[in-house]
Amino acid sequence: MTMNLLEGRKLVVAVTGGVAAYKAAELVRLLGKAGAQVHVVLTRAGARFVTPVTFQALSGNPVWEDLWDARVPNNMAHIDLSRDADAIVIAPATADVIARLVHGLADDLLTTLCLARTCPLLVAPAMNRQMWEHPATRRNIGLLASDGALVLGPDAGDQACGETGMGRMLEPETLCEAVVRFLSPKPLAGRRIVMTAGPTFEAIDPVRGITNISSGKMGYALALACARAGAEVDLVSGPTGLAVPEGVRCTMVRSALQMRDAVNAVITGADVFIGVAAVADYRPDQAEEHKIKKTGDGLTLSLVPNPDILAEVAARPDAPFCVGFAAESRDLDQYATGKLRAKRLQMVVGNLVQDGLGTDDNRIVLYDADGRHPLPHASKALLADKIVEHLAGLLAAARPARSGA
Ligand code: PMT
Repeated sequence: MTMNLLEGRKLVVAVTGGVAAYKAAELVRLLGKAGAQVHVVLTRAGARFVTPVTFQALSGNPVWEDLWDARVPNNMAHIDLSRDADAIVIAPATADVIARLVHGLADDLLTTLCLARTCPLLVAPAMNRQMWEHPATRRNIGLLASDGALVLGPDAGDQACGETGMGRMLEPETLCEAVVRFLSPKPLAGRRIVMTAGPTFEAIDPVRGITNISSGKMGYALALACARAGAEVDLVSGPTGLAVPEGVRCTMVRSALQMRDAVNAVITGADVFIGVAAVADYRPDQAEEHKIKKTGDGLTLSLVPNPDILAEVAARPDAPFCVGFAAESRDLDQYATGKLRAKRLQMVVGNLVQDGLGTDDNRIVLYDADGRHPLPHASKALLADKIVEHLAGLLAAARPARSGA
């Protein structure tokens, strides 16, 4: 999670009485780490699971439990707390609190606060699977959503009661990401983006191959940033050890030929193509069916060129807005601008392999028709946001979003 993504945001996190309340402590910590000012409201049942002291320590703010809290001189805690809040997040939300919200009850601080709010409400249900599947809960969740609340989860899995099924609260990292996404500006709303990331692996025999040390971190960070900015993202990824970013559709492939097929399967109608993958330029002309045995003699591999996926996409009659990456070991300006022209791209992200290949940080320069735009050395997550900002500006000028987007 990038630091400062929630800088300047005020969030009310409400914790109700479920076993998942222990996960709310981590959620509060993550939201605070992302820069938010967090105020915790704890219901009486919630306080049976985790004490206010924990939330006070993690949020750095007093915890609110009582509608009649004497700390508020005008006795208006239910209004003051959410007055300038960006959102109220209820995590965990029990079946009981959901039912009470749906009926507009206002008999404690949390329900009164929700009824009196003007900010968005995000709800992360957590309950036993039979409670979740009960027609009353199904009905209540539908009503809550139609009243405008954003329902996050639940997930399926092992439950505290020993059963397995739907009803687990989403993990704190997933919830934090959902809050970030909800509050992020959406300059790419209505755009569909196809991207490649990671290395390719070109088989020599069943156990060996030609590959490179691309980790996929730059591409995955960019896919996440695009999704947060409101784009629909199709990521085609070579082999990496990374988790697929939240809200991104991902097709895993191995070789350059598979990557090209997977891109072609989704490229029609895309608004943008971004080639972050370090695609092998060559592959063995044929992979041996059986493991090559050591003979003691030298071994010569015969290589044939791989297709250039980015160049092929840019040459399509219905070519989307094309963004290439240029990974060089020297003369970055010269090679990157060369790629911008030769592949007829609208934008190139240039980096030196010694700065960015396999690392967590990178130093990049953006190239477009207006020239070069260097960015300071930073984490790939932060740089991904900067790339999205630049891309969104160019895209808006070149291809205004379709109406309704
Ligand atoms: O994955 P990480 O460890 O985070 O590292 C990130 C990165 C260094 C891999 C990334 O920032 C980067 O620079 N990616 C492009 C690497 C590369 O292959 O550059 P290139 O200059 O060889 O290729 C130029 C462009 O053509 C790239 O957009 C590439 O995806 C594309 N290409 C290249 C060859 C090919 N056969 N098909 C392609 O689509």
